[in-house]
Amino acid sequence: MTIHVQANSNIALVKYWGKRDPVLNLPAAGSVSMTLAGLTTTTSAAFGQPADTFEINGQVQTGKAAAKLSKFVDLVRERSGRTDGIAVKSSNDFPTAAGLASSASGFAALALAAARAAGLTLSPQELSVLARRGSGSAARSIAGGFVHWHRGARADGVDSYAESVAPASHWDLHCLVLVTAQGAKDLPSTDGMNLTMKTSPFYQAWIDTVETDIGDALQAISARDFQQLADVAERSCLTMHASGMAARPGVLYWNARTVELIHEVRRLRAGGSPCFFTIDAGPHVKVFCEANAADGLETLFRRHESVLDVLHATPGEGAHEVQA
Ligand code: PMV
Repeated sequence: MTIHVQANSNIALVKYWGKRDPVLNLPAAGSVSMTLAGLTTTTSAAFGQPADTFEINGQVQTGKAAAKLSKFVDLVRERSGRTDGIAVKSSNDFPTAAGLASSASGFAALALAAARAAGLTLSPQELSVLARRGSGSAARSIAGGFVHWHRGARADGVDSYAESVAPASHWDLHCLVLVTAQGAKDLPSTDGMNLTMKTSPFYQAWIDTVETDIGDALQAISARDFQQLADVAERSCLTMHASGMAARPGVLYWNARTVELIHEVRRLRAGGSPCFFTIDAGPHVKVFCEANAADGLETLFRRHESVLDVLHATPGEGAHEVQA
């Protein structure tokens, strides 16, 4: 039986940066995100094959990439008792060439598709724990709307899962992804995190900020308090990046356009346009605003000399099965 699923990407409002267990992808601290409709992975999976095959955006995966995916599917095989191969086809509706992380939606979709194809019925919590093994941020894409990924305390990681704290319909926040580089190859997030953990004198100081920021972000989301969410999201982003910049050698994901757009968002806000920025392990700038400001800001950013492309996302659903 072939299973078809969709999963959306997500953007952290309180960042995840640092692992307490690199094999299980257990985070050093929790995080908070919004799941994004408009940055979607569609995946199909069927067991009963002589060997595993993975096709992503029409390209058959080989070598290390295929081995990593097979290792992930092994987790599903172990749990279901299956020993046969899987055929997986996956595609993103957003430009992967732009260097936008697709691991969150990709592993969330693969976790659900492979589990269902193997005949497993997992709870959302178990699915989040499974997706986390592929990529930490994928744990959050299992859930929809506004999401809290719990740090957890257990060494086996079963309590480190993400769950929705408010559905997508709770708050019509929009996210404009301002693309500032094409096909740029950044330092993978795992490498950036590890370097920060091992060498940055600011690493512990960063981790010490996260719990308070999570509390503030959850309160801001619950109250739909845009200004409070803006404050916490920007400080979480800047503190995370500051911890990386202080690593040896410094982890610096920003380009000149990234910095220009940080200033632009601040200018817009000072001019009465409520918006805030956040930045992940790459040079693109994600601008959040409320629905009524989104189209005007999109037009403005499309004309901006530092912006190569704009993707427009809204709060999205968690990973779910779809018809073929
Ligand atoms: O789980 P990964 O490897 O996609 O790492 C995500 C790291 C950041 O995007 C920078 C922060 C986050 O919380 O998503």
